[in-house]
Amino acid sequence: MQKDLIKEKYKKKIKLLNKLNKFYYDKSKSIVSDKEYDELKAEIISLEKKYNFLKSKNSPSEIVGHKPSKNFKKDLHRVPMLSLSNAFTEDDLINFEKKILNYLSKDSNFKLYYSTEPKIDGISASLTYKGGKFEKGLSRGDGKEGEDITANLATIKDIPKVIQSEDFPEEIDIRGEVFIKNTDFDNLKEKFANPRNAASGSLRQKNPDDTKKIPLKFIAYTFGYEKGLLANNQFDYLNKLKEWGFKTNPLNRLISGTKNLIKNYIVVEKQRSSLEFDIDGIVYKINDFALQKRLGNVANAPRWAIAHKFSSNKGTSIILDIEIQVGRTGALTPVAKIKPINIGGVVVSNATLHNEDEINRKDIRVGDTVTVERAGDVIPHILSVDINKRPKKSIKFIFPDKCPSCNSKTIKEFNKVTKKFDAVRRCSSEGYFCDKISIEKLKHFVSKEAFNIDGLGKKIVEEFWKLKIIKFPQDIFKIDYKKIEKLEGWGKLSVENLKYSINQKKNIPLEKFIFALGIRHIGLENAKLLSKYFVTFRNFQKLSKKNNYKDLLNIDGIGETQVSSVKNFFANEINVQVLKELEKVLVINNVIVKKNNGQLKDKSFLVTGKLNGISRAEVKSLIEENSGTTVSSVSNKLNYLIIGEKPTKRKVESARELKIKIINQEEFLKMLNKTS
Ligand code: IVH
Repeated sequence: MQKDLIKEKYKKKIKLLNKLNKFYYDKSKSIVSDKEYDELKAEIISLEKKYNFLKSKNSPSEIVGHKPSKNFKKDLHRVPMLSLSNAFTEDDLINFEKKILNYLSKDSNFKLYYSTEPKIDGISASLTYKGGKFEKGLSRGDGKEGEDITANLATIKDIPKVIQSEDFPEEIDIRGEVFIKNTDFDNLKEKFANPRNAASGSLRQKNPDDTKKIPLKFIAYTFGYEKGLLANNQFDYLNKLKEWGFKTNPLNRLISGTKNLIKNYIVVEKQRSSLEFDIDGIVYKINDFALQKRLGNVANAPRWAIAHKFSSNKGTSIILDIEIQVGRTGALTPVAKIKPINIGGVVVSNATLHNEDEINRKDIRVGDTVTVERAGDVIPHILSVDINKRPKKSIKFIFPDKCPSCNSKTIKEFNKVTKKFDAVRRCSSEGYFCDKISIEKLKHFVSKEAFNIDGLGKKIVEEFWKLKIIKFPQDIFKIDYKKIEKLEGWGKLSVENLKYSINQKKNIPLEKFIFALGIRHIGLENAKLLSKYFVTFRNFQKLSKKNNYKDLLNIDGIGETQVSSVKNFFANEINVQVLKELEKVLVINNVIVKKNNGQLKDKSFLVTGKLNGISRAEVKSLIEENSGTTVSSVSNKLNYLIIGEKPTKRKVESARELKIKIINQEEFLKMLNKTS
C-alpha cells in the first residue's frame, strides 16, 4: 500500500515536470519560477534514490536536458539578422520581380538570376570567425541583439572551429540554420512538439554537455558582417562555404525567370516529405551582390529576397460558433470556432473569417461544413463552405452593430483614397474606453517590435489587466511588485526577473516609442519616418499644440491616411494624458541623425519626371544614405528639384518662383561623385 502511495506521488511529480517542460520548450513560457522547477527535479531524483522501484522514462535522470536557461548573455549583431517577406502564389512572385525591376529601373527583358534555397525550418544562428577561428555564436534574438550561445554551438560537428583556407575572410559572421534530422527527432518525440522546438530547446541548454547529446546539424546560407570576403554573388558564396568546410543545402539552385522558379518549387515540394529535414518553403535571393546592395532593405526584410511558402494543408470541419474579436485598432474580426481537427500535425480549433464582407460573400453560417486551410505560421482560415451539407434550419449570420466589448456603435469607415467603404467594421469608441481595445493596446505596447519586455507576454498582460494592476501603458512602469509576488505561479525569482526587464526598457528610442503607441497606420516603417522628422519626444508631443499636422505631409512616405490617424490620436485627451505620464517614467532617446559621409547633409530633394536607369525609390535611398532628406512637395523647405524626362510643369514653375536650384540626373549623381 505504502508502495502504491509513493508510486502515485512520484507519478504526479513526473507529470507536473512534463507539463512544465512542454510549456517551456514548446511555448517558451514558464509557469513556475526557476527555483520551484529545480526543487521539483531534486525531489524526483531524491525519491528515485530512496526507492529503487521508481522508474520513468521521463525522469530528469533519464532524459537529456535541463530547463533551457533564460539567462544567456546578450550581444548585439554587428549587422542585423533580418527576416523574409513571404510569397504564396505565382502572382506574388511576379510582383516581387516587377518591384525589383522597377526599383532598379530595368525593363522586363532584364534577366534576374536567383539563388534558390530550400527554407529549413530550424533556428538561425550567427557564427563570428576571426582569423579563421570560431570565436562567438549568437542566436537571432530580436534580430538586433541575440543570445551568446557559443559554447552550445561549439558542440555541433557541422560547425568548423578552425578554417585555414587562404581565401577565408579575415573576419566574417557566417549565418545559417541549426536543425535536427527527422529521424533523430523520432527519439525526442516525447519531449517536443516538433523538430524545430527540439532544436531550439537543445540549443538553449544551460550545460553544453546536454546540447552535445542531441545530434544538431548546421547548414550555412548567408553572412552578416564581413571583412575580406571575395565573392560577387550568392552562388559563389555558397560554393566557398562548401570549400571552407560548411554544409550547404544540396537542393540549392541558380535559376532565372519566375516560370522556372515555379518549376523548381514543384519539384522540391514533391521531394519535401522524403527529405531528412523539415522545409516550409524556398528562399529566393537575387544572386548578384551588387544588385542586392542597390536594393537594400525595407523595414526588417531585404528587398532582394523572398520566401516562397509551400501550399498549406487543408481539412474539413464544422463551425460550432462565430465569435467577434476586437483588435487594437477597434477592428472587429469574426473568428470561427470549429470542431477541432488535425491539419498537418497541428490541432486547429479556430479559423479567422477576416471581416464582415468575407462572411457575407461566402455566406458563412454557424453549423456549416467548411474547408479550413493552414499555411505555415499564418492563422488558419476558411476556404469554402459546403452548401449541400448545410443544416435545414441554418440562419444567416448577422454581424453585430454594437461592439461586443463596450457596446459602442460599430462603423465602417469611408476611405477617401479608394472611395469605398472599408471591409472592416470597427468599434467607434475612443481608445481606452473599450476594454478589449485597451488590452490589445497594452499587448502591442510590450510586444517584440515595441518595448519588447521579456516575461510580460500577452497572457500576463491580460492577467494583470483583469487584476487592475495595469490599465494604461504608464502603469507598467509603476507596478507594485509586492502584489505580484502574492499571485499564484509567481516566485521571488520570476518577480525579480520581471522587474529587471521592465526597468531595462525604461530607456527607449523615439521610433520604438512612437510605434509602441499603436497609432493606426503607424507601423514600424512610418514610426521611423516620424521619429526622424521629430528628432525629440518634445517635438512629437508639441504637435497637438501647434496643430500643424499638414507639415507631416512633407515627410516622404507619409500620406493623408497616416496624417489623419496621427491627428485623431492627439485629438483624444486620454492619449495626450498617457504621453504626459509616460514622459515621467521613461527616458525617450532623441534620434541620432547619422552623419555618415554627409555629402548631402542639410539638403532636401524632390524628383519630378522620369529618370534614366535609376528609380525614384533608389534615388531616395541614395539621398538618405548620404544624410540628405527627401520631401514630397515644392516649398521653401526644398533645396534641389531633380528633373527627369517630362517633369511636372507646375513643380518646375513653383521651384523657379521660389528660386530653388533645379538640377538634372547627372548633376545630382555628380554631387555623390557618381555617374549614371
Ligand atoms: S537568408 C536576409 N536563407 O528564414 C535574409 N534564411 O524568415 C534572411 N531560413 O531567420 C536570411 N533557410 O531562419 C535565409 N536559405 C536561407 C534560409 C533562411 C531558412 C530562415 C532563417 C531566417 C528566416 C527568415
